[in-house]
Amino acid sequence: MSRRKACVIGWPIAHSRSPLIHRYWLKRLAVDGDYTAVAVEPERIAKFFIQFADSGFIGGNVTVPHKEAAFRAVDEADEVAAVLGAVNTLWLQDGRLLGSNTDVHGFLANLDGAVPGWSAEVGAAMVLGAGGAARAVIWSLLQRGFDPVVVVNRTLAKAEQLARNFGPGVRASGWDEVGTMLPLSRVLVNTTSLGMRGQPSLPLDLRRVRDDMIVNDLVYVPLETGLLERARDCGLSAVDGLGMLLHQAVPGFEKWFGQRPEVSDELRSLIVADLARDA
Ligand code: ATR
Repeated sequence: MSRRKACVIGWPIAHSRSPLIHRYWLKRLAVDGDYTAVAVEPERIAKFFIQFADSGFIGGNVTVPHKEAAFRAVDEADEVAAVLGAVNTLWLQDGRLLGSNTDVHGFLANLDGAVPGWSAEVGAAMVLGAGGAARAVIWSLLQRGFDPVVVVNRTLAKAEQLARNFGPGVRASGWDEVGTMLPLSRVLVNTTSLGMRGQPSLPLDLRRVRDDMIVNDLVYVPLETGLLERARDCGLSAVDGLGMLLHQAVPGFEKWFGQRPEVSDELRSLIVADLARDA
């Protein structure tokens, strides 16, 4: 069999840590394969997917801003990709291009690992932001039985659109209502860019929340955001966003290269060191 090659497709793509993650696994598992980054401008993306079967790649990841274009391009999307309207993992099967979205797996596996049993007792959940990442988080929380899932967004219309799409389990809310809704929440997830290096911080008062609240920030640059720091100061479970990035990569690797890789401490340290180089 010829050397299997997969890739990550985005624009821009230089920041992507996916090659580092997958090359680590290729080496660790002694798989004869390769994984590269491919920059594709938005104007070229539709044609790129049409020609994917002839590209020499057996599959790949898709990142910003091409996940929706990938969903439109695949011959078949699985259920989760269809719900999210976005594909982040592609593979070829009998000449057909298939797609999935592994962000839901990544989000849930990260929390399952970091706070075992976190969803055994459900209740209300709060999601900050209403972009693509929020969609995956909302769907994950609904799957685990959280009700209601309150979506808070600066642009309220986008949160309302998500509430309409996902149905009665999801409620839209403006930032002005956070103070009343947050004390009821068992889980809080930040999917906005607030708190990211170079962005404004996230102004949230965590003093009047449930003492068993779990706080998950999807931001991972910096790894320890102001939100997580405050959560830890209040004695809450605080989970950073790097684990989701690592776990979402697992199903793709398994599909392309035939072995299920492990999200180890060693891999995490490798990525943390690489992120620190950019600091
Ligand atoms: P992703 O696909 O990663 O979720 P996105 O679609 O760009 O990224 O979504 C970013 C989210 O962060 C949005 O919910 C955005 O709010 P708007 O819909 O109002 O734009 C939110 N966000 C970004 N900057 C923000 C800020 N300064 N204050 C509040 N919310 C912000």
